[in-house]
Amino acid sequence: MENGRTLQSVVIAVLLGVLAVGVIRSCWQYRTVPQRTSGEKLQNNDSRSQKSSAARRESIRRELSALHSPEYLYRYIVKVIEKGSHQFDFPGGTMEGGYLSADLAPRVACYVMELGGHPCPHSYPKDAAMYFSSVCAGCHGSDGKGLHGSYPDLTRPTLLGIEKREEVLQSELSRLEHSAQGVP
Ligand code: HEC
Repeated sequence: MENGRTLQSVVIAVLLGVLAVGVIRSCWQYRTVPQRTSGEKLQNNDSRSQKSSAARRESIRRELSALHSPEYLYRYIVKVIEKGSHQFDFPGGTMEGGYLSADLAPRVACYVMELGGHPCPHSYPKDAAMYFSSVCAGCHGSDGKGLHGSYPDLTRPTLLGIEKREEVLQSELSRLEHSAQGVP
C-alpha cells in the first residue's frame, strides 16, 4: 500500500514536471519569435518599394514627355558621337565613339539636326558642315540619309535610338503600373 502511494506521487510529480517544461517552452517561444515585429518590417519594405516604384514611374513619365523635344534629340546625337552606338543591325556594322573631339561633337550634332529639318536649340559655328562631310558623310552620306540603308538615315523624323528608348520606357512603365494596380 505504502509502495503504491509512493509510485502514484512519483507519477504525478513527473507529469507535473513535463507540463511545467511544456508551459515554459511555449512561453519562451512566444517571447523569442517576434511575429508582430517581422510583420511590421514586411510592411515597411513594401511601402519603401512602392515609393521607389512610384518615383521610377514619375521619372519615366517625365522622360517620355521630353522624348520628342529638340533638346533631347540634340543630347542623344552628342552622346552617340561621344560614345558610339551598338544597338542595331545595319550592314555597315556598329559605330565607335570618339570620331570628334568633345568641343566639336555639339556643333556637328546641331548640323545633323538641321539636315533632318529639326532646328537646333543651340547656336553653332557653320564650320560644322565641313566636319560632318569629312568625318560622318563617309558612312551616313553627305545628305545624312545613310547610303541606301547601309547606315542609319539621320534625317528620319524620329531617330531609331529614340524610338527604341520610347518602346523600352513604355513597356517598363506599363509593367510598373500593372504591378501597382490593386495596391491600396
Ligand atoms: C564607320 C561608319 C560611321 C561613321 C564614320 C559614323 N557613323 Fe554614325 N552610325 C554608324 C552605324 C553603323 C550606326 C548604327 C550603329 C548601331 O547599330 O547602333 C550609326 C549610328 C548613328 C546615329 C544613331 C542613329 C539613330 O537612328 O539612332 C547617329 C545620330 C550617328 N550615327 C551620327 C553620326 C555622326 C554625327 C557621325 C560623325 C561624327 C557619325 N555618325 C559617324 C556608322 C558610322
